[in-house]
Amino acid sequence: MTEVPEHLLKRSKDRRTSLDGGTPAADAAPAAESAPIEKATASAAAAPAAVVPAAVPEPVPPYVEAAIKRKKIPIWAIPVLAFLPLWAVMYIGGLSPAASGEPSQLATGATIYTAYCASCHGAAGGGGVGRAMNEGNLVKTFPDILGQLEFVWIGSNGTGPAGTPYGDPAREGGQHKTLSYNGNPMPNFDKSLSQAELLAVVRYEWETLSDGKTTVDAEGNMTYADGKPMLNAAGELITPEGTPLFDPAGKLTIQPNWTMPVGSPS
Ligand code: HEC
Repeated sequence: MTEVPEHLLKRSKDRRTSLDGGTPAADAAPAAESAPIEKATASAAAAPAAVVPAAVPEPVPPYVEAAIKRKKIPIWAIPVLAFLPLWAVMYIGGLSPAASGEPSQLATGATIYTAYCASCHGAAGGGGVGRAMNEGNLVKTFPDILGQLEFVWIGSNGTGPAGTPYGDPAREGGQHKTLSYNGNPMPNFDKSLSQAELLAVVRYEWETLSDGKTTVDAEGNMTYADGKPMLNAAGELITPEGTPLFDPAGKLTIQPNWTMPVGSPS
């Protein structure tokens, strides 16, 4: 064991004496060894006269100081913060397309009508630059909706030169002829609409504006009267036999049935 030099022992003793507030007697108390800090405080209080440097407050670490000085969250922000997770859920939900929220065929038709047809035929089909469709006018021209599909697809000029008859030959008031309304042609829509969109808008005019009767499948899409689909999986118009409804020129590949009761589906 190493011997502690005498002068070091003395220095240590002196130092302890000064810490104890200059009361060498306290140093002898056994309690002083087990609880030196309590002892130091107690003796400092007991001997105020002693020259004890006033307990210097621990310097506040800079990070604590920053935390104290930092602005607190204002009260109004609490509800804002509380709703943040809810908004996050709503925002993410809004990004993904609605699962089954696709508009129905008829609703799609209404949208297309407003965008492409209402300017000439009137918001409710009352007519204007284009012929009136309301009050059964349209189903009188086309008791079979197939004829209307063709007329809208290729327009007046695709149907034939001025004066070409179209629609029901036995129409009440006389069969309609191209460019006979006010001399203006009905535009063709084979370039601007898909065949599925054509069916949607034609169905909307025929059913909603002109009171035609339709049969629909479970999804609400129009079918032939016997329940056969009018569109194939690719969204193209087909005959009840499943062949294309239009030839390359946009003319019907099957004859419309002009003798069917007015306003009933093909
Ligand atoms: C630029 C004006 C204009 C727009 C747009 C227009 N039409 Fe027409 N439409 C006419 C005119 C004009 C006629 C009459 C054609 C004729 O006399 O040859 C007509 C006739 C028709 C007819 C025949 C009605 C009948 O009883 O003879 C149908 C059906 C029709 N339009 C459907 C539509 C649909 C569907 C749209 C939208 C996808 C549309 N039209 C957009 C001007 C327009």
